[in-house]
Amino acid sequence: MLHKLAELEESAARAIEGAKNSKELGELRVRYLGKKGALTALLRRMGELPPEQRPRAGKRANALRSKLERLLEQGEERLREAAAASRVEEERIDVTLPGAPFNPGQKHPLTLVLEEITAIFTGLGFQVARGPEIESDYYNFEALNLPPDHPARDMHDSFYFTDQILLRTHTSPVQIRTMELKAPALPVRIIAPGKVYRRDDDATHSPMFHQVEGLAVDRGVTFADLKGTLLAFVQEMFDRGQSIRLRPSFFPFTEPSAEVDIACIICRGKGCRVCGHSGWLEILGCGMVHPRVLEVSGYDPEDVTGFAFGMGVERIAMLKYGIDDLRLLFSNDLRFLRQFR
Ligand code: DAH
Repeated sequence: MLHKLAELEESAARAIEGAKNSKELGELRVRYLGKKGALTALLRRMGELPPEQRPRAGKRANALRSKLERLLEQGEERLREAAAASRVEEERIDVTLPGAPFNPGQKHPLTLVLEEITAIFTGLGFQVARGPEIESDYYNFEALNLPPDHPARDMHDSFYFTDQILLRTHTSPVQIRTMELKAPALPVRIIAPGKVYRRDDDATHSPMFHQVEGLAVDRGVTFADLKGTLLAFVQEMFDRGQSIRLRPSFFPFTEPSAEVDIACIICRGKGCRVCGHSGWLEILGCGMVHPRVLEVSGYDPEDVTGFAFGMGVERIAMLKYGIDDLRLLFSNDLRFLRQFR
């Protein structure tokens, strides 16, 4: 009997030790300690022993019962701890893992160029002014001395709402609006960035594009101030060694007027395909504010002078970044847009 109890102890201990989950432990409890279990079966046969052996065997059997209870208890405990540990392992945050990638987006190349133009001119003492994109014939044309038969006024070149209301074709009307507001205060020094609209659509023209207008009015403003300001801008925008060339031109709202070229940034003036082998690239129009424009805006042309300029932002961006098709700027292709920071 004692021998059988020892055997039972050993096999039960081993089985409990090896249990992989509490279902298995439950089964072992039934197998050894249940009503039909192995220990119970042994106890039943206690009566077959000679009486003098019974007390010892009974004690031993009771001790074994307690021991198996304890082992089952400990087995449960061991499984609980293992489960908790593996859950902790699963849920552990590995702070060394790379973060989940997300796309923060970035600025459009035109925004970058507009911001840079604005930064340069504010650095030179200009303030930013704005005007409406839906403009009247008066501000867009008449006050700027554009005669009634000027081609820009044609239905084929501009978007009209009515005879008198249209999408502005340039930012120059902001000159008039600014002076009207400020006159007779001096100096006036503004740039006016914004969208403008024309009935054009091809590889180098878009029906909507951007301009930056510039205007400086004060006593004694000269053409040299204009040229110096534009040279400073061009050198800041493109290259410190960049040179400019002014060619006589015509705009109804400036007199004299000029077109400004920069030495070709591709061939540096030698002549290439981009500059049409001239060595120069046109970047803006400018001139001294026409006396009539000053007058309609509330300034005395006998007392003050001014210079003005207007540039196309897309053109500057294309030159600066070497973009060869204007439409890339408006086609929302991320492969293109991601290249600019
Ligand atoms: N408004 C002109 C255009 O859209 C550009 C321009 C030329 C603006 C000369 C000016 C200027 O202020 O002085 O073509």
